[in-house]
Amino acid sequence: MVRVDLTGAKTFFDPAGPDISKISDAHRTLFERTGEGAEFTGWLELPERVLKGELKQLQSCAAKIRQNSQALVVIGIGGSYLGARAAIDLLRSPNYNLIQKDTPDVYFMGNGLSAAAINETIALIGDRDFTVNIVSKSGGTLEPALAFRVFKGLLEKKYGKDAKKRIVATTDASRGVLHDLAVAEGWERFVVPDDVGGRYSVLSPVGLLPMAVAGIDIERVLEAAEREMHDLDLRSFENPAWQYAGARQHLYQCGRTVEILACYEPSFRFMAEWWKQLFGESEGKNGVGIFPASVEYNADLHSMGQYIQDGPRRLMETVVCFDEPNEALKIPFELGDRDKLNYLAGRDFSDVAKTVSQAVAAAHIKGDVPNMTLTVPKRDEEGFASLVCFFEMSCALSAYISGVNPFNQPGVEAYKSNMFKLLGREEK
Ligand code: PA5
Repeated sequence: MVRVDLTGAKTFFDPAGPDISKISDAHRTLFERTGEGAEFTGWLELPERVLKGELKQLQSCAAKIRQNSQALVVIGIGGSYLGARAAIDLLRSPNYNLIQKDTPDVYFMGNGLSAAAINETIALIGDRDFTVNIVSKSGGTLEPALAFRVFKGLLEKKYGKDAKKRIVATTDASRGVLHDLAVAEGWERFVVPDDVGGRYSVLSPVGLLPMAVAGIDIERVLEAAEREMHDLDLRSFENPAWQYAGARQHLYQCGRTVEILACYEPSFRFMAEWWKQLFGESEGKNGVGIFPASVEYNADLHSMGQYIQDGPRRLMETVVCFDEPNEALKIPFELGDRDKLNYLAGRDFSDVAKTVSQAVAAAHIKGDVPNMTLTVPKRDEEGFASLVCFFEMSCALSAYISGVNPFNQPGVEAYKSNMFKLLGREEK
């Protein structure tokens, strides 16, 4: 489980501290499925359902793609791509497509409308064999639908009638344009369960297929996630999700309206993007909600660090740490010490980074920024599963504590209706 350290936050609490009875009520509401959006709580059992269900089909589909393709194009937006991208960055590499490996490159498309981005990806794929995984629960989201039209056209041009063997659709079980097309064309299909919303779907085929293609052991992820979900049903303040959800909601009540998620690992960048979507879309509604932001340390210490230390005091900071570094690199000794760095020679980079993080936390706390740390043992399949389950659980609890439905997103419809009107789509 994730370990939560609230030492750097407690001094900012009101004397009463987090309201345990509210956290406990939120937990009961979630697990007894009595709250708003209860029909979207299938993610609580998702790991065990996939382990007993489509795991083998996912593994064999991924093995086929690894065998017949040098690239996989994953087309999706929001919850239909961020989890997979986060996992591949965190567990393989943020430079995954550039490193030496025996698994296909993975390109994420359909999350924007940039012609330059699409053209560049087409050029990068070049003559290589590729497969397309189109991911859309609704099956009708404009950005991925348009990108899919382009990449499906490329597959048809390159492979003719065999193109259909290189399209995998991850969508609703029975509804939507994409579902109907997939059935009519005979594409391999995976289901986004009805009771799981996009941003809670990373441990469904939405996230798992691209992860498996990239060589991540999804069985290990799911087994760890099943244990985590079970352990997170602990009904006391020993539960790390209670600690985090309770502390951030309490700090919000004390005027901390912005939460910054920080990490010292560049591979965490898309985990932070996934976290922003999870919390932003789940909590920001009815005029309330903590604004989720993220920074990448050390880089952002030299830019956003100024604002964090010294700007308006409405921030709280949450730092994600890993006990064990995945790599070692000692700082070399240099004769003559002309760059004056020998005082660090022989120490590992991760050791220096740890000391820096302690110095940063102390400075930020002194600068009036409450600081919470979240620690997992390692950047591996188990660590990823812990973080995903912990954040999903904390997010649902936190939203229920603040009195909003964690599982809807009425606000994103406003731009869509304007967009379709301006683009001239005929209403049926
Ligand atoms: O979390 C959500 O529900 C959204 O971010 C969706 O995942 C996103 O809008 C994509 O929707 P769809 O999968 O229906 O194309």
